[in-house]
Amino acid sequence: MERLQKVIAEAGITSRRKAEELILKGKVRVNGHVVDELGTKVKGNDVVEVDGVMINKDIVKKYYLLNKPRGVISSVSDDKNRSTVRDYIDTDERIYPVGRLDYDTTGLIILTNDGELANLLMHPKNKIPKTYVAKIEGLLNKDDIDRLRSGIMVDGRKVYLENFKIRDKNFEKKTSIVEITIVEGRNHVVKKIFESLHHPVIRLSRIGIGFLGIGNLASGEYRELSIKEVKKLYSLK
Ligand code: URA
Repeated sequence: MERLQKVIAEAGITSRRKAEELILKGKVRVNGHVVDELGTKVKGNDVVEVDGVMINKDIVKKYYLLNKPRGVISSVSDDKNRSTVRDYIDTDERIYPVGRLDYDTTGLIILTNDGELANLLMHPKNKIPKTYVAKIEGLLNKDDIDRLRSGIMVDGRKVYLENFKIRDKNFEKKTSIVEITIVEGRNHVVKKIFESLHHPVIRLSRIGIGFLGIGNLASGEYRELSIKEVKKLYSLK
């Protein structure tokens, strides 16, 4: 027996919190009967419907790691017909990206139909480290580095860097390549960090999610995660 909201979240429909809202709104049926109270438990052979659609509780869980190219949106569809990360993965499963990379950001993104793992990776309390390499305008001075070390205010809240290093400096072009690791998931957070230092980001790439690196994935290539890697991701909780 499992809690109804967990079963819905695990089917990849939505988060557990949103599943609870759907239940309370009377949108969920179990064996044809509306269940609008939290705490209900269901068995493997109970038929669960969300908004009239039966969810398949026995879906095969799939996990992909994509090296997202530039000019691709982190979504499963786009009303402007731009290419999406979903277009790159050859599967019929209802997978979706875990979190977002900006349209012009390249690098690692996980796609899965496992709602529970997606929630775990995105929840701020799990502090999953993400490593980025950014090409930025200008050369960082001591003051900038001190600010990066002591945390940077972004939208009224401080972002602390887990790690930071300058990989390269181009004195002629006045640009730098920096690597930063953060546990933040806020939108555009890396660009905002460097904007607040007046060193705007020119190019950005995510090269690490937890222990996962790019390896030999070329731009636009993907691979399935191994069971061992999935287990290791679960253990990051
Ligand atoms: N931070 C950004 O600014 N953009 C991304 O795509 C990811 C993190």
